[in-house]
Parts: sequence; C-alpha cells; structure tokens
Amino acid sequence: MSIQIADYNSISYNKAGKFEDTRFEKIHNVIFKSSLNASILVAQEIATLIRSKDLANENCVLGLATGSSPIKVYEELVRMHKEEGLSFANVITFNLDEYYPMDKNNIQSYYYFMHEHLFNHVDILPEHINIPNGKVSNENLYQYCIDYEMKIKEAGGIDFQLLGIGRTGHIGFNEPGSHLNSGTRIITLDHITRIDAAPVFLGIDNVPRKAITMGIGTVMSAKRIVLLAWGLNKGEIIKETVESKISSNVPATYLQQHNNCTFVLDREASSELTRVKTPWLVTSCIWTDALKLKAVVWLSELLNKPILKLTDKDYNDNSMSGLLTEEGTAYDLNIKMFNKLQHTITGWPGGKPNADDSNRPERTNPTKKRVIIFSPHPDDDVISMGGTFDRLVDQGHEVHIAYQTSGNIAVSDEEALKYAEISNEINTNSDKANSIINFIKNKKGNDIIDPIEVRNLKGLIRKSESLAATRYLGLPDENVHFLNLPFYETGTIKKGELTQDDINLMCNMIETIKPHQIYAAGDLADPHGTHKVCLDVLFLAIEALKTQVFMQDCWVWLYRGAWHEWESYEIEMAVPMSPDQVLKKRHAIFFHQSQKDGVMFQGDDSREFWVRVEDRNRLTAKKYNDFGLANYAAIEAFKRYHF
Ligand code: F6R
Repeated sequence: MSIQIADYNSISYNKAGKFEDTRFEKIHNVIFKSSLNASILVAQEIATLIRSKDLANENCVLGLATGSSPIKVYEELVRMHKEEGLSFANVITFNLDEYYPMDKNNIQSYYYFMHEHLFNHVDILPEHINIPNGKVSNENLYQYCIDYEMKIKEAGGIDFQLLGIGRTGHIGFNEPGSHLNSGTRIITLDHITRIDAAPVFLGIDNVPRKAITMGIGTVMSAKRIVLLAWGLNKGEIIKETVESKISSNVPATYLQQHNNCTFVLDREASSELTRVKTPWLVTSCIWTDALKLKAVVWLSELLNKPILKLTDKDYNDNSMSGLLTEEGTAYDLNIKMFNKLQHTITGWPGGKPNADDSNRPERTNPTKKRVIIFSPHPDDDVISMGGTFDRLVDQGHEVHIAYQTSGNIAVSDEEALKYAEISNEINTNSDKANSIINFIKNKKGNDIIDPIEVRNLKGLIRKSESLAATRYLGLPDENVHFLNLPFYETGTIKKGELTQDDINLMCNMIETIKPHQIYAAGDLADPHGTHKVCLDVLFLAIEALKTQVFMQDCWVWLYRGAWHEWESYEIEMAVPMSPDQVLKKRHAIFFHQSQKDGVMFQGDDSREFWVRVEDRNRLTAKKYNDFGLANYAAIEAFKRYHF
C-alpha cells in the first residue's frame, strides 16, 4: 500500500479488508477532519449492516462501547431511527463492560449510559440488551462471565464490535497484562483508567477499582471491529497501538492481528502517527513553508543542535534530502527558518508603536487596540496568558476579559460551605445561606446534582476570585464580563448542547467591543471538553459576524497552557517573560484559590495549574534557546486563527 500525507479533507471510509502492513502502520486507519463526520459514517455502516441482516431475516449482533468516543455514533443511530425508520427490532447487543460493583440505576453505570444515549430512544427489545451486571455476587461472578460468553456464541457471535481506547491501551477494560485469548472476566482497573474516570465520579476515590469486561478473545472473534479515537489525549496511545509491536502491555495492539479492523480517528488523535507527524520519513512531500519549518525544528530537536548548525549531511541522513534539493543548501534553509522563528518573538503583543511591522507578528496600527480575551473557565486567562495579559494592559490597550462559563462545577462542597457559613454569620441566619448549608451538610453520594442556589454560590466564588486577579493586573471591573454561557449550566460534567443563545451572547460581546484582537483558548485537551465547545462557539460567532466592517481589522490569537502547549513549529507569536513577570503571573493565578491545592478536576497531571504553566512557559523558552535564539526566562505562545 502506498502511504500519502494524511488527507484531512478525505471522508473516504473503506472497509479494511486485510490490511497490508506498511513500514510504520500495522492497522488500517482513516483520519477525519471532525469526529462528527466520522461518527456519522460509522453509524451508517452499522445501519447498513442492521438493514442487510434484516433483509436476510437474521439478527444483527452488535458489541457496544460506552465512554465519550461513541456518543455521536449513538446520536446518529437514534436520529436514523426517528427520521429514517431504522429499526432495531432485529438487533441484539452485548456491551463490553460495567464497573464492579455498580448498581444499574446509578447515573455513573454503563447500564444508565447505554439507556440514556441509545436504548431508551430506539425500538430494541429489552431482552435483546446485554450489559454485564455490576451487582452479581462474588460467588456467582465466575459462572456469570462464562454465561455471558456463551450467550454471545448462542447469538451467533458479534457481527460488529464498536470500541474506544483508553490511554493505557485498554479495549473494553482489558488493561495492560491482558492475554490474547482472555474471555469475559473481572479485572482490576489501571490507575490511569481510574484517573480518567475520576471527573465523572467527582474524584478518584469514588471510582470503582474493578470492572467486568469482555476479554480480548471475545473482542477478537467479532467479524468486524471499528475503534474510535478523538482528541490529542489519544494521540500517543494510537501511535503505539498502530505502529509498535504486539504486546500485552498495550492490549489494543492485539487488534493488529484482526483481519477486518479499522481505526477511525480525528486529526488530533492521529497527530502522533509517523505519517502525520513526520511525513518526510514515510513519503516524498510537498514542501509547504509550514512543513519546512516543522521538519527543520524536528531535526534540530532530534539532533540536539541549534538550527544554524544543521548540515547537509544531517538533512540527508534523516530522510530530508528532497527538502535540500528544493532549497539548495542547508545554509540557506537554516537561515530562512531561523529568521521565521526569530520573527515570532515580540514583547509587544498588541503591536509595537512606530515600528516597522513587516517582520513582526502583530500590526503596529492602531497603536491602542481594543482587545477581548475569552477565557473558557474563570482562570484560563491568567493561567494561559497572564504574562501577555499584563503586557497588553501595561502597554495601554483597552483590554476586556470575557469569562465564557461560570466554572461552578469545579468548586468543592467544602469551599462552598465555607462561604455559605460566612454569609450566614454576616446576614445572621439568612434563609438562603441556611438552605445551602443544610444541603451541603446532608449531601450523600457523588451523583447528586447541586440545586441552583448552590451552583450560583459556587459560580460567585469563581467570579470574585476572577475579579481579584483582574484587579491585580490593573483592569477596571467594568472591563470584566461574565457570559455564563447556558450550555455549561447543567450542574454536571456532561454539558448541554450549544444553542443560539450561546452564540448570541458571544456575538453581543464581540459586537459591543469591536475588538482589534481576540484571544481565545485553542487548548483542546481539557478533560471535559469545555474548551473545545468554547472555541466552537467563538468560531460560530465569528462566522456570523465576519462580514461586518470591524471584523476586517480583527485578528484572532489562540493560546494554550493549562493542559498542553503549541508545538514550536506552530507558534506564530511568542511573548517572552522576565523572571519578575513570571512571578507576577504566578500571583495572579493564586487568586483562583478554589482551584488550588487538591483541585477537583486535576486531570492526569498531578501538578497544580500554576506549576504546569510555569513549566510549559519555561520549556517553550528553552526550546527557542536550543534552536539558537535568545535565552528568555519563559515564553507564552500563540497561534493565529484565520477566518
Ligand atoms: C467503554 C470501554 C472503554 C472505553 C475507553 C475510552 O465501554 O470499554 O474501553 O472505550 O476507556 O473511553 P472514552 O471514549 O471515554 O475516551
């Protein structure tokens, strides 16, 4: 098979057949621009199978997964049932797994998940639904698992198995160490899996330690397998699964032996694959400027050499002779790329007054710009771009901060209780404060949704922390806006759909300020996906406004930081910070006290937010220095979004 540079526009989705091994890849995979398009095509494959089985008067046996990956596939199947008459009457399902112990009525159970996302909305017969029972007694467990396997065989085996993949490389809950021939059984969950499940359970301590899962052998005997993976968080494990040797340490690698398996990926999940990350190692490339920079930066990092010291031999030895042929010599190419990086650096993020801006990332004019910094949660502004925020204010621009969501679910009950008690003291026995205190003190179980007054208090806590931070950076309160986008206000980790109300709030904000610069989080790896939705809603607002005159003069810069950082070759504006500015940024972050010391939604990184960003900003500065550029204490990085 010939490998090409990933064609992100392609929506071709072919059944795998026997996949021919390539130098790097051992599993057939298709990369999609968006997980939505991909999910729709997967749902179509399932629907076609259900219909063809129906025509042949046969049952269709589906192996189903839970988690975030298959949600849109289920949504599309439900839509097809409602709008296109797709019937599930001939469908028998077997779910991969269930936590153990777990009551099926618990909202965290996979039983609940499947009913909420699929079964309650289609005409499947209840007796055709099989989900491991998280309440089976210990003594009966062994036999229960054997029976589950038997039931699959009796149904004729699985025709189509839908899978997600965990960061440990688990499929189902087959954690590292699982055997190729394993069957349905009880398993102890890996620590990383428990960390990933922690948000849904409101803390790792509440995540069950065990689960019942179909085995690798069970999955492998399915006639067709489709594995879905979305997002940067899956990038590493997808590369390992697709490119490394089969090993029980990464159970998903067993899928390399299946003869009809396709991985369906979005761009982010495919980003670590060799053919995507370093295509020159795989094929001859069309050398765009962006690809040249990517390759040169990669070579400099690989060889640990400043860019200006890379030689012809270095390029030839690392599959980049094609690039040299185009560019002439390493010397010419090096200077060009060095200058390109050099020109990203500026201490004037709003543009330098009275300067020639032809080689600067931002325009000089107007010298005083109106700026909106959109912050998904009430703290991303200072975490991700506190240094740049400070400079923009210092350099006299009209800066506005717009917090997109209230961030209320990330405030702990203990924190809220503290404030409710203080309020109760000041207002001597206020009804409202009392009812909040009573609710929190009597709250049992982690699947209870806070009533509105508790959520409001939690939102207020984040609001006053934000104001403390923005005041510290010299911003008047009237320039701080709290949009409280409605999609976020569900009181749970699972957010609502984006609606026109969300878009209107964003449009109003932008139209009122008419900004020359917008900063927004391009940080797509946050655990609950809020940043992604906040970016989507910004893009929708921009789409709605882009024909307005003021938008012709508006540049959009995307920051990252809380969860991950731009790659060096992606950076288009690098704002350096002095050691003093690093400290000032740290202090601004400290005002967000409810998100310090044992924050509720830590993700898989045990460092506090301020430590993570300091490390990241320091690392960006070090990388620039390693490329042979100036040695700064820290750098905040931005990429421009062109609309
Ligand atoms: C779920 C399951 C797991 C998930 C995997 C990915 O039934 O068996 O293997 O598919 O943990 O989860 P998400 O999709 O939430 O990233």
